[in-house]
Amino acid sequence: MLAYEDVGIRFGGNQAVQGVTGSITPGIITAIIGPNGAGKSTFFNLLSGFYKPTSGRIIFEGQDITRLPTHEVVALGIARTFQTTTIYKELSALENAVLGHRVRTKSGLWDALLGTGRERREGKASLDAAYTALKRVGLEQQAHVLAGNLTQEAQKRVSIALALATNPKILLLDEPAAGINPEETVNLTRTIRELAAGGLTVVLIEHKMSMIMTLADHIMVLHHGQKIAEGSPAQVSRDPAVIEAYLGGHAAPHVREELKADLEQEAARLGSQHA
Ligand SMILES: Nc1ncnc2c1ncn2[C@@H]1O[C@H](COP(=O)(O)OP(=O)(O)O)[C@@H](O)[C@H]1O
Ligand SMILES: [Mg+2]
Repeated sequence: MLAYEDVGIRFGGNQAVQGVTGSITPGIITAIIGPNGAGKSTFFNLLSGFYKPTSGRIIFEGQDITRLPTHEVVALGIARTFQTTTIYKELSALENAVLGHRVRTKSGLWDALLGTGRERREGKASLDAAYTALKRVGLEQQAHVLAGNLTQEAQKRVSIALALATNPKILLLDEPAAGINPEETVNLTRTIRELAAGGLTVVLIEHKMSMIMTLADHIMVLHHGQKIAEGSPAQVSRDPAVIEAYLGGHAAPHVREELKADLEQEAARLGSQHA
């Protein structure tokens, strides 16, 4: 479906992503994990056309999309959210989703904001797409609430709706549960699972190991811009290279402690399951 061959990008002297080869399997949830600065968000930027790789190729459904502008990548069916929530707090949830749809499907922001003839014709389509997207994330009741007045979790849902408004085949979520509490995380996890159950291919970057372990069918691990492991949650959480990457001093101390606890808990859970 979506394949990447030897993909890399260099910023000055910093090789942020290097030699990553593999593919996203359709119809499942893939998680990308790795310590801070591993290159996860950069990898999403490459897959979604926001950055152009300095090496390698990206192929979507047989087509080379490596050099395509982002709105063409979106049109083919790849949508993403950003690590920091990028919504307009002074607009309603629905207006956000409409704007998200227009900006992402146009070559320029001006096209989206100025009322050109084409734009007016497409207005109704944007509104329908936006409303459908809000429904998919369970926000139809809050469609007319100002985004700034919504809970943190609902704001996360709005940012997912912005991406869904383009009706993607693949949804890339960059840390969707950052900054929300455990209960909200469980609710958001359920929504992501439902989206996947509805046939959407989901790729998610996440630090919350509990969320990854309950959602991911497949995990890819990045470290220093390189893929160091890939496999089922059980395989990856036992992989010595992964444990070393997390516990070997590269992660910040509090992250390290948290991940260590999560990995131990996960190992115990898997142990009791397979006993
Ligand atoms: N636009 C950019 N310009 C320069 N360096 C960048 C840029 N984007 C990312 N990087 C660098 O790429 C590396 C990986 O960052 P990132 O992908 O954000 O990591 P992660 O999401 O895994 O925490 C970091 O060293 C970061 O500073
Ligand atoms: Mg990141």
